[in-house]
Amino acid sequence: MKFATNNKKINEIKSDCLMVSVFDDGKLRGATKLVNTSNGKLIEDFIKNKDIQGKIGQTRIIPVTGKPYKRIVLVGCGTFENFSQKNYRKAVISALKKISLSNHKKVVSLIHDGAENINSPKKAYRMARVLAEIGLEHGDAIGKATQLVRHLGDLPANICTPSYLASVARKIVSKNKSASLKVLNEAQMKKLGMNSLLSVTAGAQEPAKMIIAEFKNGQKSQKPVAIVGKGITFDTGGISLKPSNKMDEMKYDMCGAATTIGLLQMVTDLNLPINAVFVVPACENIPSSTATLPGDVVKSMSGTTIEVLNTNAEGRLILADALTYTQRYKPKLIIDMATLTGACVVALGAHHSGLMSNSDQLAEKLFQCGQSTDDVTWRLPLTEEYANQIVSNFADVANISTRGSGAGTITAGCFLQKFVGDYDWAHIDIAGVAWAEGANKGATGRPMGLMSEFLINESNT
Ligand code: BES
Ligand code: MN
Ligand code: ZN
Repeated sequence: MKFATNNKKINEIKSDCLMVSVFDDGKLRGATKLVNTSNGKLIEDFIKNKDIQGKIGQTRIIPVTGKPYKRIVLVGCGTFENFSQKNYRKAVISALKKISLSNHKKVVSLIHDGAENINSPKKAYRMARVLAEIGLEHGDAIGKATQLVRHLGDLPANICTPSYLASVARKIVSKNKSASLKVLNEAQMKKLGMNSLLSVTAGAQEPAKMIIAEFKNGQKSQKPVAIVGKGITFDTGGISLKPSNKMDEMKYDMCGAATTIGLLQMVTDLNLPINAVFVVPACENIPSSTATLPGDVVKSMSGTTIEVLNTNAEGRLILADALTYTQRYKPKLIIDMATLTGACVVALGAHHSGLMSNSDQLAEKLFQCGQSTDDVTWRLPLTEEYANQIVSNFADVANISTRGSGAGTITAGCFLQKFVGDYDWAHIDIAGVAWAEGANKGATGRPMGLMSEFLINESNT
């Protein structure tokens, strides 16, 4: 699908469909009003006869003759006063779903028209058009990146291996001169002392990879923004084996990695003026005679020793070394995304992702990006009471709580915090939002919306 904007008059644009808004008060506005008058008050009749009530999601297709457009598509937009971005999106999605059933090639949407002040001065109008065009370019790149995230999420673990993720990143990087890629193998990780990550892959035949993409397209003096994503290509739980029911869903345990790679694609596609580093620790978590055993103690790259009490709490183990490694780039800030805890699904369900941070300012920025893109987050506290739950009698820290079973999402966040030093850092637990269950089973592409907004904002500051 291709998108474009233009400022031609309605009667000058040839199309298969012309989409216009109908609000639930029945009042005609903007383009709807114009199209109504130039078609013998056709739309008015539809509303009068209650053939459309303007409810969100409602659509009516009216064939017309003697016009440059072949059909008018009435699109229910709900209450005019509540016509938010969210409702706009709902309306557009339902209209596109309806017309996608037919083979229409060119569709013109004027749904937005009438919901803005069309009598505003010419200058403001021109400005709006420039913004619309930038928005369209951004939207196109974000849309494609979201498709990639969903595609990678949906791919099964026998295809989407750590090496496969690396090859996807390599392809993206090869298309942009400001981008470069480094992929560490297990021997290289061993040399760096990444024993926490290696303890997770110990049972696997499939080789683990640490994928690092650098994008240097901002001012030289500017510190990079670091994005880190959990890339467990399949999580069986390891020796602390998961129940078999719904275990197939653990192919999605690399959605943090997928979003990281999606963001890499977006910044390179748009050539955003930003410096950024994208880090993906990737491996399988699977039992075998070489697998890590509960109670094993490992020394992470940071030197912190970890007692692995539960091999199913593996995401934090690979992220620990990834977060330590990321600090080599002296980043301005670090954001990690991970399908980290089942507890997050219990707490927040599929609606908000769990946001944790050592910086109020960064947390607020991310929260706002979530609000404005309808890819919402909710912040959870990281106070020392929770950090005290992950004490170990045999190492510096335990990988699960040893002091009660509550607050599983937060104790995971506290574990990660031990590996970020003094850097401004935020952790987004996407266990509940990254994929959908039931009839719509599949990767959702979240939190691409909020993170793309964040990076685009960062590139302007
Ligand atoms: N990948 C899972 C988290 C998860 C569970 C995501 C369900 C989506 C749906 C993670 O590696 C895990 O297994 N976490 C454990 C941690 C526990 C052992 C402390 C969990 O949440 O049960
Ligand atoms: Mn697990
Ligand atoms: Zn996992």
